[in-house]
Amino acid sequence: MKRLRRRFLSRTVLTFISLTVLCSLFVFFETVREINSDHLLRASEVNNYFIRFPSPASHSAKGAEDAVIFTYLQPVTHYQERGRGLKSFTDLIKSKENHNAQRYNNLTTEGKSLLDCNDVKSIKAGENIGRGYTKTVQKGILRGVEVALKSVQIDNEDIKRCVSNPSAPRSIEECFIFAKYKLAKEIIMLQQLQHANIVKLLGFCWQNELNTDDLKSRGLTMVTELGTELDVLTLVQLPWQERFRICLGLARLLHYLAHSPLGSLFIRDFKLSQFIIVRGEVKLTDFDDVDNEEPRCSADRDCVVRGVAKNRTLKCDNGRCQGVVAATNLDNVCRNVISHVLVPGAPKKLRDYLKEVKQNLRRLTLNTDTLVWNLERVLNLLRSGKHIEPYTRPLNLYKKIVKADFPTLHDYHCSNTRLPGACELAVYNIAEARYECDMDDECMAFVTTKTKLWTGE
Ligand SMILES: Nc1ncnc2c1ncn2[C@@H]1O[C@H](COP(=O)(O)OP(=O)(O)OP(=O)(O)O)[C@@H](O)[C@H]1O
Ligand SMILES: [Mg+2]
Repeated sequence: MKRLRRRFLSRTVLTFISLTVLCSLFVFFETVREINSDHLLRASEVNNYFIRFPSPASHSAKGAEDAVIFTYLQPVTHYQERGRGLKSFTDLIKSKENHNAQRYNNLTTEGKSLLDCNDVKSIKAGENIGRGYTKTVQKGILRGVEVALKSVQIDNEDIKRCVSNPSAPRSIEECFIFAKYKLAKEIIMLQQLQHANIVKLLGFCWQNELNTDDLKSRGLTMVTELGTELDVLTLVQLPWQERFRICLGLARLLHYLAHSPLGSLFIRDFKLSQFIIVRGEVKLTDFDDVDNEEPRCSADRDCVVRGVAKNRTLKCDNGRCQGVVAATNLDNVCRNVISHVLVPGAPKKLRDYLKEVKQNLRRLTLNTDTLVWNLERVLNLLRSGKHIEPYTRPLNLYKKIVKADFPTLHDYHCSNTRLPGACELAVYNIAEARYECDMDDECMAFVTTKTKLWTGE
């Protein structure tokens, strides 16, 4: 009897244990399945609370309506690397500017290709937005579209110095006419040069020799598309993708200038302030110091271009150096821009290639054709996603929550972010977003939007 009771007891215990093990296994596999599924909503009260509250990052993100949150639930292993983040989106592509771009084409009426004096007189002139040695730039509004107005003002430095020059005394009228010719030269050149990296001429009005604040009676006004000024601080703070876009834009510009309809053109007074940014694209705006004269020479030794790392001697032919203009433009772009901004922050896989491009430019072994070819190649790699790290298995398990957000809870400032106080980065696809999140200790979740970079990322 005792033996029977013991056997019954042991069977009951065994059945209980097997049932518990079975149940635990079922719960375990079910949980893993749920976590791995990217299509399940997290149903806790906490998540319901967070749903539909936008974070700073999603405030700026276009298409945040379609935002999707990925959050990791189980750290599987410790991170190997820290702080590696792709570059963020930029504010440079402003919706207002996009709007302007479409409307620039509709500014002229009656089939004219350029605005005439009647159009210019109807522009509402606004505040000054730029000022150089010779010219002043104002913002203007024509038929609801923002434009830039360039003119020569009597208080510009050029005129002041000309008037007070003791060795060649001139009247204010004489000095004014000379300064105005510089603007006239710019108008003539811009009518003949058209390129994505040259400011677009919209029109001009040259009606008299007066100099007035009032546009209706002002002697000479040039109208172009409106941009934002480019300076070193802005440039170095841009995310890598935008800096790369500027390098590529400058390379394309130099290629065009080397083969322009006006001959090989030289940006004599090369400085960043001669450029503006229009919808993320760099554009040359100042043409008063651009000319097409190769230096005079009697032998090759007169045609030396001093590169950052190496000098290059070019051919002297018929009393003129051949190619010095294009090589000097390249050297200037290298010294002032590419040397500083092409490599830092680039995707790891592209860094060696970009370093080589930079070195070759410093040694002047690249010309405008080969520089453009190299940078276009990088652009193709970016567009096809070949720049991303080989990465198939996320370190963390992520769960997709549709139309949800984690306001301020997980927002933090990461390296290369475009949005202060948040971490806003550009990635090629969700896999890369997971990779970036995995590589950053602080990343707890990420929000994706449909906003696209100029590279298509
Ligand atoms: N289309 C534009 N949109 C916005 N800002 C502009 C535009 N064109 C020029 N600017 C700004 O105005 C400034 C002066 O213009 P510009 O360079 O033509 O004058 P400048 O007298 O020739 O200058 P510099 O003495 O430097 O040669 C530029 O540095 C630029 O920041
Ligand atoms: Mg100038």
